[in-house]
Amino acid sequence: MSNLARRSIMPDTGNYLTIEGGHRLSGEIGISGAKNSCLPILAATLLVKGACHIENVPRLSDIFNMAKVLRSLGATVNWTGRHSLSIDTSNVSCLEPDPVLVQKMRASVLVLGPLFARFGQAMIPLPGGCSLGKRPIDLHLLGMESLGGFVAENDEAVTVKLTNGRRPVGTTINLNFPSVGATENILMASALAEGTTILNNAAREPEIIDLANLLNKMGAKIVDAGESTIIIVGTSELRPVSHRVIPDRIEAGTYIAATAITAGKVTLTDVCTDHLTSLLQRISSTGCKITTEIDKITIDAPDVLRSTDVRTQPYPGFPTDVQPQYMALMTRASGESIFVEKIFERRFLAADELRRMGADIRVIDNCALVNGGRKLTGCEVNAPDIRAAAALLIAGLWADGSTRLKGLGHLYRGYEDPVGKLSALGARIAENNFVTDTATGISQG
Ligand code: EPZ
Repeated sequence: MSNLARRSIMPDTGNYLTIEGGHRLSGEIGISGAKNSCLPILAATLLVKGACHIENVPRLSDIFNMAKVLRSLGATVNWTGRHSLSIDTSNVSCLEPDPVLVQKMRASVLVLGPLFARFGQAMIPLPGGCSLGKRPIDLHLLGMESLGGFVAENDEAVTVKLTNGRRPVGTTINLNFPSVGATENILMASALAEGTTILNNAAREPEIIDLANLLNKMGAKIVDAGESTIIIVGTSELRPVSHRVIPDRIEAGTYIAATAITAGKVTLTDVCTDHLTSLLQRISSTGCKITTEIDKITIDAPDVLRSTDVRTQPYPGFPTDVQPQYMALMTRASGESIFVEKIFERRFLAADELRRMGADIRVIDNCALVNGGRKLTGCEVNAPDIRAAAALLIAGLWADGSTRLKGLGHLYRGYEDPVGKLSALGARIAENNFVTDTATGISQG
């Protein structure tokens, strides 16, 4: 197993990043494949007998964990290139993923739909809450029940079993919230159903479209993915395919905020500009100059940023997964910014740590008020989740002095080689280890 894989999967080994503030980012970096598209796509390979080949796979620990979940079910998963995987689920026999892995990564619940559809049953240890809140799976279970599953739950796991013993049965399903994961599980399960499924109030994220494109390549008949109502005409069998994962719009949004806080100028390549419309509108209103091509974005940031408000929404609204990073950015903007978080109960965890750096942020329920313009001071901070880790890293790029970012396990769950990518843009950043406490080498930007 590569060093990156070993480090990323292991619990925090006392590693931390040292970030030296005050260096403008400049240059060009490539954006990796989308974590939140690749995870359901890997789960979807459980629907077919044979080997699927997936390209543009990001090398980050959530992907390594999903590979372990598939292996724990009996699949063969091999890296066929730096960013490509071959997954053969012909010999899948276990219908319950490893509980330890499910606890580590909520996205493991995405094997529920494929296992239920192909084998008629599945047992999923309850993924539990996380720093973002309770994270229930009631909408996932509503989908499976609607498709003919019988759901039995205890306080550790949930089992879903087909009542007719053959295949899921197409029906109309109405979600009371456009849940991304529930939409994905329902798409995968209904693709093998008898008859047609109409899914109302479906999530519209680009990752839903990417999954539907994969399923249609496999032989499914899915119409209007990306709209609020999706039609899935079930089929009896799906076949293995090759597929390239779309670019990661959240990683792109993260590096856009990192560039802006350093008053830098950076070009991002291998992006899908269309997936970032809402975010690019917000970042332009801060005074950043944005130029775009279909797969490239250049951001040229001013020395003085204007404050702007953010209200997270399901796609195509402002993505909740970039909200913490944008909050870090607004600590540099002059004036007040109001944040309204409409997706998760607890997504302002970065605020506590940003305040330790001197940020003026007040949180009241699902609102946060950032009074920006005051210089932050580097200090030791601890990342509570993936996107808060990115937010603290971004704050460290601008803060006076150096910032020590702990909780790297969270950062490496969602980002491929952030140290390498930021160093290539001129950041002074290095990974260190408490145990040896010797820098692995401050990168010369
Ligand atoms: C996906 O999570 C993403 N994860 C999240 O990204 C992202 O923040 C989220 O969608 C929203 O865009 C992956 O794709 C792997 P949801 P998911 O179901 O599917 C409630 C990151 O940082 N809900 O759309 O879990 C839920 O509690 C991660 O990359 C129910 O009530 O999100 C939440 O408040 C974090 N019942 C809201 O809906 C359910 O059955 C959104 O959840 C399911 C969800």
